[in-house]
Amino acid sequence: MQVLVTGGLGYIGSHTSVLLLEKGYDLVIVDDLSNSNEKVIENISQITSKVPVFEKIDLKDKESVSKLFNNYDFDGIIHFAAHKSVNESVNYPDKYFKNNVGSLENIIYEIQKLKKPMNFIFSSSCTVYGQADSMPINEGFELKKAESPYGQSKRKCEEILENFHKAGHNFKNITLRYFNPIGAHPTSLIGELPIGIPENLVPYITQTAVGKRDHLTVFGNDYDTNDGTCVRDYIHIMDLAEVHITCLEKLMNIKDNSFFNVYNVGTGKGTSVLELINLFENVNQLKLNYKIGKRRDGDVVIAYADTSKIKNELNWTTKYSLENALKTAWNWELNINKNE
Ligand code: UFG
Repeated sequence: MQVLVTGGLGYIGSHTSVLLLEKGYDLVIVDDLSNSNEKVIENISQITSKVPVFEKIDLKDKESVSKLFNNYDFDGIIHFAAHKSVNESVNYPDKYFKNNVGSLENIIYEIQKLKKPMNFIFSSSCTVYGQADSMPINEGFELKKAESPYGQSKRKCEEILENFHKAGHNFKNITLRYFNPIGAHPTSLIGELPIGIPENLVPYITQTAVGKRDHLTVFGNDYDTNDGTCVRDYIHIMDLAEVHITCLEKLMNIKDNSFFNVYNVGTGKGTSVLELINLFENVNQLKLNYKIGKRRDGDVVIAYADTSKIKNELNWTTKYSLENALKTAWNWELNINKNE
């Protein structure tokens, strides 16, 4: 079974690629290296003792995507490749639409030409819910206008997929709305590699703990939550990687050639910023230098998933603990630092 993994050298893509290789899938990893590093291939190979095919391709380029589909005969596609910085998207909205939406359009165009039904998994985000009116968030909740062009681009991609499905093409699709992925592979050989100053909480925490940053700023402690800080649903990257295998197998085995579904991927548990910091300190036996600062523009106050749909329909639940995610995130940071 040959699987195309776009963005396969990125944070979620690399962990998923490892599991796919371990399961015996034949992989073609496509990445433009805009937010990743070719060395990740070596680390994937070290973990799995297998060498995946790697193609450096910019998926915005229609001709390159055409060539890719002519050269291989994919049985499944997991489409991770996208720009993901909320901040950057505010300053360069065009870059986000061109890349995130344009790449998907090019891939869909090729899928349309195929004679067999494609098994397709799309990476979306809980950002499509905006600030939901109640918790936990289920897949039936109204999608709100996303705050950032990044969020809008994910929303647009979901619409494109829905229209494609409605048009009756030979196409089986699962869209996954991720909550907040954290942690790293147990070997510490792959993990999150933010370029420049991290925007996300956990890489900022680990970089502060290791001394790359002076202190962490907690963005607001006057929200209407238990301790005043924002609440998120932090999911272990290994769990998140695994869900893609479950979904791919579901798509490959299902007879309905127009299967189309959307699932939340989270733990179902909300954790505040301060709770996460405390847990990080306890699990790793260290003290973190942090200060309370102003609220960050565009932050939702609370977001955690209702996970019953994926549990009931795909029999999938998370296995890893938050403690393990914070331990592996720290080990990963120590490992990168050792090599620098
Ligand atoms: N936070 C801090 N200090 C930091 C960084 C983050 O206090 O230095 C706080 C944020 O205010 C937020 C929480 O930590 O309350 C989590 O922030 P992240 O940036 O890690 O995650 P977000 O929930 O804001 O963003 C994530 C994804 C985005 C996606 C968004 C959808 O990273 O891709 O969820 O809600 F768009």
